[in-house]
Amino acid sequence: VTEIARVKNINRICMGKHEVETWYFSPYPESFIELDVLHLCEFCLEPVGTRRMLERHRTKCTLRHPPGNEIYRNGDLSFFEIDGRKQRRYCRNLCLISKLFLDHKTLYYDADPFLFYIMTKLDERGMHIVGYFSKEKQSAEDYNVACILTLPQYQRMGFGKLLIQFSYELSKIEKKTGSPEKPLSDLGLLSYRSYWADVIIELLYNSQHEMSVAEISEITCITTEDIMHTLQSMDLLKYYKGQHILYLSEKTCKYHEKNVQKKRVKIDPRCIDWTPPK
Ligand code: COA
Ligand code: NA
Repeated sequence: VTEIARVKNINRICMGKHEVETWYFSPYPESFIELDVLHLCEFCLEPVGTRRMLERHRTKCTLRHPPGNEIYRNGDLSFFEIDGRKQRRYCRNLCLISKLFLDHKTLYYDADPFLFYIMTKLDERGMHIVGYFSKEKQSAEDYNVACILTLPQYQRMGFGKLLIQFSYELSKIEKKTGSPEKPLSDLGLLSYRSYWADVIIELLYNSQHEMSVAEISEITCITTEDIMHTLQSMDLLKYYKGQHILYLSEKTCKYHEKNVQKKRVKIDPRCIDWTPPK
């Protein structure tokens, strides 16, 4: 990719009732980059051009939800599983959108080796994409997430942590630990650190007995490496009488009690209808 091609080329996108500023370059076809605002179909994610072109598109496009299997529903929140090989166009469109908000050098536009987990919110018009994560069908490194995105119009509302939780719930069903693909973006790292800390502290707080890192890993499917980093950064690891012990300070307990009071929406694992693909 040449230097010039990396300059941000699309300033704004419009999806449904949301119009947002983009962050980075994405390789959309030339014909779209001269538009002031690029209109996308919020259901099939096709870049269509102007508002008029979108209106014409909407008379033909019948989708009201992502094109895949609904594997989770709880209230207005759903997840759809999409095979990158079976829904190439949709997944390519999704990758093009993602690139607008990702500075990664390596975003794969070949969707075939990935499964996509799309989170949606239901209203009277349909099931609207909020965010998603992709996952390699076969990961040599035991990554459980390749790419993760909350659309900007939904960021900072807790959806990122719901996506992350969902990825670990799938790992629990698969009975193996997982970790996001590296390198993570700054925002990705912030979100993961926050999720790991929440989960580990909650577990320690509610546990009646001492817990080992291995035990935490087994319960949460977070890798021992990610657990160790979290323990260190949250200062939960103490060296006592020649060995490491896990220790919740008063400050950490307060942090947890405050978190509980927030009464955040969480994924209810009982609502997941999924078996690992063979
Ligand atoms: N500034 C500071 N902290 C932030 C932040 C920001 N802009 N965005 C997220 N965080 C932290 C917060 O600690 C938050 O936890 P808290 O609310 O309990 O304090 C935590 O991350 C998760 O926030 P949440 O609202 O659940 O995340 P989100 O829906 O905004 O999604 C990303 C997080 C990473 C998915 C989103 O920022 C995104 O899509 N970024 C662009 C794509 C990307 O970088 N993906 C990751 C690399 S593949
Ligand atoms: Na963000």
